[in-house]
Amino acid sequence: MAKVLALTDLHLTADGARIIGLDPWDRFEAVLVRALADHPDADCLVLMGDLAHRGEAAVYRRLAARLARVPIPVIPMLGNHDRREAFRASIPGMPLADGFVQTARDTGPARLLALDTLDGPPYAGAAGRLCATRLAWLDRELAGAAGRQVVLFLHHPPFAVGLPGMDRIALADPEALLSRLRAHGRTHLVAGHIHRTISGSAGGVPWTVLKSPCHQAPLDLVTPDSTLSIDEPGAYGLLLLTAGGIAIHSEDATLPRPDRGHDKASA
Ligand SMILES: [Fe+2]
Repeated sequence: MAKVLALTDLHLTADGARIIGLDPWDRFEAVLVRALADHPDADCLVLMGDLAHRGEAAVYRRLAARLARVPIPVIPMLGNHDRREAFRASIPGMPLADGFVQTARDTGPARLLALDTLDGPPYAGAAGRLCATRLAWLDRELAGAAGRQVVLFLHHPPFAVGLPGMDRIALADPEALLSRLRAHGRTHLVAGHIHRTISGSAGGVPWTVLKSPCHQAPLDLVTPDSTLSIDEPGAYGLLLLTAGGIAIHSEDATLPRPDRGHDKASA
């Protein structure tokens, strides 16, 4: 079995700025430390975009310094809050393909694909977008998977989740992606962007959305506002990959570790 850690939507800020009263650096540190302590045998750590709240180079440089102390390989990704040029200039040596921040990694029985869905430059909106270059890269990596289970990480979900503010800024032209995954088979999507833990399937393709180490989105099916945020526990995702399939856990990691009691009635 292979383990993969995943954190999404860090929203790291410059100059100590808080988001709904939360310090994103404190939250990231707490979740990262807990994840690495609980799973030192993880194959790698995927950071699924919205690394910097406003795409600042200084934030990426501080993040690079912190990641240098992470003892396992790190796969960084970009979200709509990121800026590709600032990221590339500030964190050298990160995986790139055709100029995009995306990569493939085979681990255990699975092939991990990290796909860059950031729309820009120019950075016109918060929705995600692919392009012919990125889809061609995806085609090559799917073809090279050689029967392995594919786990596709991407920031923007190529499906609706029922939150109207977020559904308006999902991945544009989702069918271009989903049709490829259906044709390949044995694929699981893992997305961020929403700041909630959600699961489902899209046209037969199973998916999981992981929540943030920092602020979360409320279960509001009415308000068309993508900025709605609430203070709930921050979390990391843990993927367990076996020859038979995949299990994905979401672990709240900003709360004190609870005592592990026993249910006396069923003992
Ligand atoms: Fe985000």
